[in-house]
Amino acid sequence: MRGLAATIIVAGVPGVGKTTVLQELEAAGQREKVPIRIVNFGDVMSHLFKNTGKDLHRDHIRRQRISQQTRIQQLAARKIAKMRGKTSLVVDTHMFVRTTDGIWPGTPRRVLDALHPSLIVLIEAGPDEVAKRRLLDGTRERENETVEDAKADLEWSRYMASAIAVLAGIPIQVVSNHEGHQHQAAKDLLRLIEKLD
Ligand code: AP5
Repeated sequence: MRGLAATIIVAGVPGVGKTTVLQELEAAGQREKVPIRIVNFGDVMSHLFKNTGKDLHRDHIRRQRISQQTRIQQLAARKIAKMRGKTSLVVDTHMFVRTTDGIWPGTPRRVLDALHPSLIVLIEAGPDEVAKRRLLDGTRERENETVEDAKADLEWSRYMASAIAVLAGIPIQVVSNHEGHQHQAAKDLLRLIEKLD
Protein backbone atom coordinates (compact mmCIF):
# COMPACT_ATOMS: atom_id res chain seq x y z
CA MET A 1 0.00 0.00 0.00
CA ARG A 2 2.98 2.30 -0.70
CA GLY A 3 2.14 5.98 -1.11
CA LEU A 4 -1.25 5.76 0.56
CA ALA A 5 -1.90 7.42 3.90
CA ALA A 6 -3.33 5.38 6.77
CA THR A 7 -6.94 4.28 7.08
CA ILE A 8 -8.31 4.45 10.61
CA ILE A 9 -11.49 2.70 11.67
CA VAL A 10 -13.32 4.76 14.28
CA ALA A 11 -16.15 2.87 15.90
CA GLY A 12 -18.47 3.36 18.81
CA VAL A 13 -21.82 2.08 19.99
CA PRO A 14 -24.84 4.09 18.77
CA GLY A 15 -25.20 7.25 20.82
CA VAL A 16 -21.67 7.22 22.28
CA GLY A 17 -21.04 10.45 20.36
CA LYS A 18 -18.69 9.25 17.64
CA THR A 19 -20.19 11.53 14.99
CA THR A 20 -19.92 14.48 17.41
CA VAL A 21 -16.26 13.66 18.13
CA LEU A 22 -15.52 13.31 14.41
CA GLN A 23 -17.06 16.71 13.69
CA GLU A 24 -14.70 18.12 16.35
CA LEU A 25 -11.85 16.16 14.77
CA GLU A 26 -12.50 17.75 11.40
CA ALA A 27 -12.37 21.23 12.97
CA ALA A 28 -9.24 20.37 15.00
CA GLY A 29 -7.55 18.97 11.87
CA GLN A 30 -8.25 22.19 9.97
CA ARG A 31 -7.02 24.35 12.88
CA GLU A 32 -3.80 22.36 13.27
CA LYS A 33 -3.33 21.85 9.52
CA VAL A 34 -3.50 18.07 9.73
CA PRO A 35 -5.35 16.96 6.60
CA ILE A 36 -7.93 14.26 7.32
CA ARG A 37 -10.75 12.83 5.26
CA ILE A 38 -13.72 11.47 7.21
CA VAL A 39 -16.30 9.14 5.68
CA ASN A 40 -19.41 7.77 7.39
CA PHE A 41 -19.96 4.11 6.45
CA GLY A 42 -23.71 4.42 7.17
CA ASP A 43 -24.00 7.36 4.71
CA VAL A 44 -22.34 5.33 1.96
CA MET A 45 -24.63 2.35 2.66
CA SER A 46 -27.64 4.64 2.68
CA HIS A 47 -26.65 6.04 -0.73
CA LEU A 48 -26.13 2.54 -2.15
CA PHE A 49 -29.53 1.40 -0.84
CA LYS A 50 -31.05 4.47 -2.50
CA ASN A 51 -29.52 3.36 -5.82
CA THR A 52 -31.45 0.10 -5.45
CA GLY A 53 -34.68 2.07 -5.02
CA LYS A 54 -34.76 1.94 -1.19
CA ASP A 55 -34.71 5.37 0.44
CA LEU A 56 -34.19 4.25 4.04
CA HIS A 57 -34.07 6.09 7.36
CA ARG A 58 -30.61 5.24 8.81
CA ASP A 59 -32.22 3.27 11.63
CA HIS A 60 -33.99 1.07 9.08
CA ILE A 61 -30.78 -0.10 7.38
CA ARG A 62 -30.14 -2.67 10.14
CA ARG A 63 -33.66 -4.05 9.71
CA GLN A 64 -33.13 -5.08 6.06
CA ARG A 65 -32.52 -8.70 5.09
CA ILE A 66 -29.05 -9.75 6.21
CA SER A 67 -28.13 -10.95 2.70
CA GLN A 68 -28.94 -7.51 1.36
CA GLN A 69 -27.05 -5.70 4.12
CA THR A 70 -24.06 -7.97 3.46
CA ARG A 71 -24.07 -7.09 -0.24
CA ILE A 72 -24.39 -3.36 0.39
CA GLN A 73 -21.78 -3.48 3.17
CA GLN A 74 -19.29 -5.03 0.75
CA LEU A 75 -20.06 -2.48 -1.98
CA ALA A 76 -19.69 0.33 0.58
CA ALA A 77 -16.29 -0.98 1.70
CA ARG A 78 -15.09 -1.09 -1.94
CA LYS A 79 -16.37 2.43 -2.57
CA ILE A 80 -14.67 3.75 0.56
CA ALA A 81 -11.43 1.94 -0.36
CA LYS A 82 -11.30 4.05 -3.54
CA MET A 83 -11.26 7.20 -1.37
CA ARG A 84 -7.87 6.28 0.04
CA GLY A 85 -5.15 8.66 -0.97
CA LYS A 86 -2.41 10.87 0.44
CA THR A 87 -4.66 12.10 3.28
CA SER A 88 -5.47 9.95 6.33
CA LEU A 89 -8.88 8.37 5.89
CA VAL A 90 -11.10 8.04 8.96
CA VAL A 91 -13.96 5.58 8.56
CA ASP A 92 -16.85 6.31 10.93
CA THR A 93 -18.48 2.94 11.51
CA HIS A 94 -19.48 0.18 13.91
CA MET A 95 -17.81 -2.89 15.34
CA PHE A 96 -21.23 -4.56 15.22
CA VAL A 97 -24.78 -3.89 14.15
CA ARG A 98 -27.89 -5.20 15.96
CA THR A 99 -29.82 -6.71 13.05
CA THR A 100 -33.09 -8.62 13.29
CA ASP A 101 -31.00 -11.79 12.71
CA GLY A 102 -28.61 -11.05 15.59
CA ILE A 103 -25.36 -9.26 16.40
CA TRP A 104 -23.59 -8.85 13.05
CA PRO A 105 -19.98 -7.66 12.46
CA GLY A 106 -19.57 -4.18 10.98
CA THR A 107 -16.07 -4.91 9.74
CA PRO A 108 -15.85 -8.58 8.78
CA ARG A 109 -12.88 -9.91 6.80
CA ARG A 110 -14.19 -8.80 3.38
CA VAL A 111 -14.50 -5.22 4.70
CA LEU A 112 -11.03 -5.35 6.26
CA ASP A 113 -9.57 -6.72 3.02
CA ALA A 114 -10.98 -3.73 1.13
CA LEU A 115 -10.07 -1.07 3.67
CA HIS A 116 -6.62 -2.21 4.87
CA PRO A 117 -6.92 -0.28 8.15
CA SER A 118 -3.86 0.53 10.28
CA LEU A 119 -5.69 1.19 13.53
CA ILE A 120 -9.02 0.64 15.28
CA VAL A 121 -10.15 3.43 17.59
CA LEU A 122 -13.06 2.75 19.93
CA ILE A 123 -14.90 5.83 21.12
CA GLU A 124 -16.27 5.03 24.56
CA ALA A 125 -18.19 6.64 27.41
CA GLY A 126 -19.78 5.29 30.57
CA PRO A 127 -22.91 3.14 30.10
CA ASP A 128 -24.94 5.76 32.01
CA GLU A 129 -23.67 8.51 29.68
CA VAL A 130 -24.48 6.47 26.56
CA ALA A 131 -27.98 5.62 27.83
CA LYS A 132 -28.67 9.28 28.62
CA ARG A 133 -27.50 10.43 25.16
CA ARG A 134 -29.68 7.79 23.50
CA LEU A 135 -32.72 8.93 25.49
CA LEU A 136 -32.16 12.62 24.73
CA ASP A 137 -31.58 12.15 20.99
CA GLY A 138 -35.11 12.36 19.61
CA THR A 139 -33.92 12.24 15.98
CA ARG A 140 -33.21 8.50 16.12
CA GLU A 141 -35.19 5.28 16.51
CA ARG A 142 -33.25 3.30 19.10
CA GLU A 143 -34.50 0.07 20.63
CA ASN A 144 -31.89 -0.27 23.41
CA GLU A 145 -32.09 2.68 25.75
CA THR A 146 -31.37 1.34 29.27
CA VAL A 147 -28.02 1.56 31.07
CA GLU A 148 -27.84 -2.26 30.93
CA ASP A 149 -28.35 -2.17 27.13
CA ALA A 150 -25.55 0.39 26.80
CA LYS A 151 -23.24 -1.72 29.00
CA ALA A 152 -23.91 -4.82 26.87
CA ASP A 153 -23.28 -2.86 23.65
CA LEU A 154 -19.98 -1.47 24.97
CA GLU A 155 -18.89 -5.01 25.84
CA TRP A 156 -19.89 -6.36 22.39
CA SER A 157 -17.96 -3.56 20.75
CA ARG A 158 -14.76 -4.62 22.57
CA TYR A 159 -15.32 -8.31 21.77
CA MET A 160 -15.70 -7.52 18.07
CA ALA A 161 -12.74 -5.12 18.09
CA SER A 162 -10.57 -7.91 19.57
CA ALA A 163 -11.57 -10.30 16.80
CA ILE A 164 -10.95 -7.72 14.10
CA ALA A 165 -7.58 -6.70 15.56
CA VAL A 166 -6.49 -10.36 15.45
CA LEU A 167 -7.74 -10.82 11.87
CA ALA A 168 -6.07 -7.66 10.63
CA GLY A 169 -3.03 -7.73 12.92
CA ILE A 170 -3.55 -4.11 13.96
CA PRO A 171 -3.74 -2.31 17.32
CA ILE A 172 -6.76 -0.95 19.18
CA GLN A 173 -6.88 2.41 20.96
CA VAL A 174 -9.69 3.62 23.21
CA VAL A 175 -10.69 7.30 23.26
CA SER A 176 -13.02 8.43 26.05
CA ASN A 177 -15.85 10.81 25.21
CA HIS A 178 -17.07 11.77 28.67
CA GLU A 179 -19.79 14.33 29.33
CA GLY A 180 -18.81 17.71 27.85
CA HIS A 181 -15.36 16.44 26.81
CA GLN A 182 -15.88 15.99 23.07
CA HIS A 183 -13.09 18.55 22.31
CA GLN A 184 -10.60 16.57 24.38
CA ALA A 185 -11.72 13.32 22.74
CA ALA A 186 -11.12 14.85 19.29
CA LYS A 187 -7.67 16.11 20.34
CA ASP A 188 -6.75 12.64 21.65
CA LEU A 189 -7.90 11.12 18.36
CA LEU A 190 -5.94 13.65 16.33
CA ARG A 191 -2.74 12.77 18.23
CA LEU A 192 -3.28 9.07 17.42
CA ILE A 193 -3.78 9.83 13.71
CA GLU A 194 -0.68 12.05 13.59
CA LYS A 195 1.42 9.24 15.04
CA LEU A 196 0.50 6.99 12.09
CA ASP A 197 1.97 9.30 9.44
P1 AP5 B 1 -24.36 5.67 12.09
O1 AP5 B 1 -24.77 6.93 11.46
O2 AP5 B 1 -22.92 5.50 12.38
O3 AP5 B 1 -25.33 5.45 13.30
P2 AP5 B 1 -25.21 5.69 14.81
O4 AP5 B 1 -24.07 5.02 15.47
O5 AP5 B 1 -26.55 5.38 15.36
O6 AP5 B 1 -24.81 7.17 14.85
P3 AP5 B 1 -25.28 8.25 15.76
O7 AP5 B 1 -24.92 9.45 14.97
O8 AP5 B 1 -26.67 8.19 16.25
O9 AP5 B 1 -24.47 7.94 17.06
P4 AP5 B 1 -23.16 8.58 17.49
O10 AP5 B 1 -22.48 7.66 18.43
O11 AP5 B 1 -22.38 9.03 16.33
O12 AP5 B 1 -23.67 9.76 18.42
P5 AP5 B 1 -23.82 11.33 18.15
O13 AP5 B 1 -22.51 11.96 17.83
O14 AP5 B 1 -24.98 11.58 17.23
O15 AP5 B 1 -24.78 4.41 11.22
C1 AP5 B 1 -26.11 4.29 10.71
C2 AP5 B 1 -26.39 2.88 10.29
O16 AP5 B 1 -25.51 2.49 9.22
C3 AP5 B 1 -26.15 1.83 11.36
O17 AP5 B 1 -27.21 1.71 12.26
C4 AP5 B 1 -25.98 0.58 10.49
O18 AP5 B 1 -27.23 0.06 10.13
C5 AP5 B 1 -25.28 1.11 9.25
N1 AP5 B 1 -23.81 0.84 9.30
C6 AP5 B 1 -22.83 1.69 9.67
N2 AP5 B 1 -21.62 1.09 9.56
C7 AP5 B 1 -21.87 -0.19 9.10
C8 AP5 B 1 -21.04 -1.30 8.78
N3 AP5 B 1 -19.70 -1.26 8.87
N4 AP5 B 1 -21.63 -2.43 8.36
C9 AP5 B 1 -22.97 -2.51 8.24
N5 AP5 B 1 -23.81 -1.51 8.54
C10 AP5 B 1 -23.26 -0.35 8.96
O19 AP5 B 1 -24.18 11.77 19.64
C11 AP5 B 1 -25.36 11.33 20.29
C12 AP5 B 1 -25.83 12.45 21.24
O20 AP5 B 1 -24.88 12.62 22.30
C13 AP5 B 1 -25.97 13.81 20.56
O21 AP5 B 1 -27.14 14.41 21.04
C14 AP5 B 1 -24.73 14.58 21.03
O22 AP5 B 1 -24.95 15.96 21.11
C15 AP5 B 1 -24.46 13.97 22.39
N6 AP5 B 1 -23.04 13.97 22.77
C16 AP5 B 1 -22.03 13.45 22.05
N7 AP5 B 1 -20.86 13.58 22.70
C17 AP5 B 1 -21.14 14.22 23.87
C18 AP5 B 1 -20.35 14.64 25.00
N8 AP5 B 1 -19.04 14.47 25.08
N9 AP5 B 1 -20.99 15.24 26.03
C19 AP5 B 1 -22.31 15.45 25.98
N10 AP5 B 1 -23.12 15.09 24.97
C20 AP5 B 1 -22.53 14.46 23.92
